[in-house]
Amino acid sequence: MHILVTGGAGFIGSHTLIELYKAGHTALVVDNLYNSNPEALRRVAQIIGVDEIPFVQTDIRDREGLERIFATNHFDACIHFAGLKAVGESVAKPLEYYENNMNGTFVLLDVMRKHGCKNIIFSSSATVYGDPAIIPITEECPKGHCTNPYGQTKSMLEQVMMDLQKADPEWNVVLLRYFNPIGAHPSGRIGENPNGIPNNLMPYITQVAVGKREQLGVFGNDYPTHDGTGVRDYIHVVDLATAHVAALQAITRKAGLAIYNIGTGHGYSVLDVVNAFIRVNGVDIPYQIKPRRAGDIATCYCDPAKAERELGWKAQFGLDEMCRDSWNWQKNNPNGY
Ligand code: NAD
Ligand code: UFG
Repeated sequence: MHILVTGGAGFIGSHTLIELYKAGHTALVVDNLYNSNPEALRRVAQIIGVDEIPFVQTDIRDREGLERIFATNHFDACIHFAGLKAVGESVAKPLEYYENNMNGTFVLLDVMRKHGCKNIIFSSSATVYGDPAIIPITEECPKGHCTNPYGQTKSMLEQVMMDLQKADPEWNVVLLRYFNPIGAHPSGRIGENPNGIPNNLMPYITQVAVGKREQLGVFGNDYPTHDGTGVRDYIHVVDLATAHVAALQAITRKAGLAIYNIGTGHGYSVLDVVNAFIRVNGVDIPYQIKPRRAGDIATCYCDPAKAERELGWKAQFGLDEMCRDSWNWQKNNPNGY
């Protein structure tokens, strides 16, 4: 298939491109490079062994820009990664987050519809479950209250796409609810490249390991978990990438609306991750217990059985490989791209 990949220069998009090409698909990337570097696409091309990944630097809110792309390309489906994703920043800049994520998706869906491309895979998030009513979380678990504008955009955009699919059953909409992606391509050539102080656990750990930060703050050790620190379902980004290739099957068999949790089904605490990182990589990670971070929940991990049953997809990598590959990327690229 020929796939439009919005946000393809970013962390998850760049890894997904590799798996798409490995599976025999081709792609065109649209990205405004707000949170990414075109060097990622050059490295992806090297890894795949092609001259270049077709790329147009455009904002998906730019209707004319998208129209021009659709006028000269036929896409079988779109994988829609483009969006702003920093939880804390979304609280400080709600209008920017709502405007970018909502308007960007509205324009994209409208231009897709106009050009008869009615197949979309959307990057949703475990955040739509809020503080989950059931653990492990199944897709039937009711959506919860999102405590930040970023999460609200994911939840609202899911609803927009569900309504669109209901109104016009020609649409195939696959909502992938990602749990916590970490790790990097095993080549160490591409990986996560956050601007400024990392918000997320693994990039913070790798920056401590490489000497850019003094110590990790562990946000709370009084949660009702096995060691008091927050538990999450970390998933290797390469597994997350292959989930998108598998999700194309739902489009091929015209599944209509399909929703999948994409995680491993295992919950690890902050200290489990720190200890695994130290053991696997032989580097010390000094840390200090800090107060809880506002909006955090105790435990979040999924039941990924539906994706295995319906898509034949199952995560292959464990926490050790996630720690190994995160460090391999960071130590080879201490300043990112
Ligand atoms: P990322 O920031 O690395 O990639 C997103 C890309 O979208 C960036 O390259 C950015 O420049 C681009 N972009 C943003 N707004 C755009 C616009 N208006 N027009 C064109 N390009 C635009 O993020 P990521 O970690 O690769 O996440 C990809 C998607 O997955 C996002 O939608 C994110 O919300 C979602 N997601 C991420 C996580 C996570 O923990 N990384 C978890 C759940 C869901
Ligand atoms: N944590 C620390 N110290 C840090 C950073 C994080 O102790 O410096 C802890 C958090 O308190 C939490 C765990 O590590 O217990 C994971 O935190 P992350 O920020 O890495 O991830 P979150 O689970 O908070 O959120 C991430 C993404 C969201 C996405 C969600 C899906 O940031 O966009 O996963 O589960 F919605």
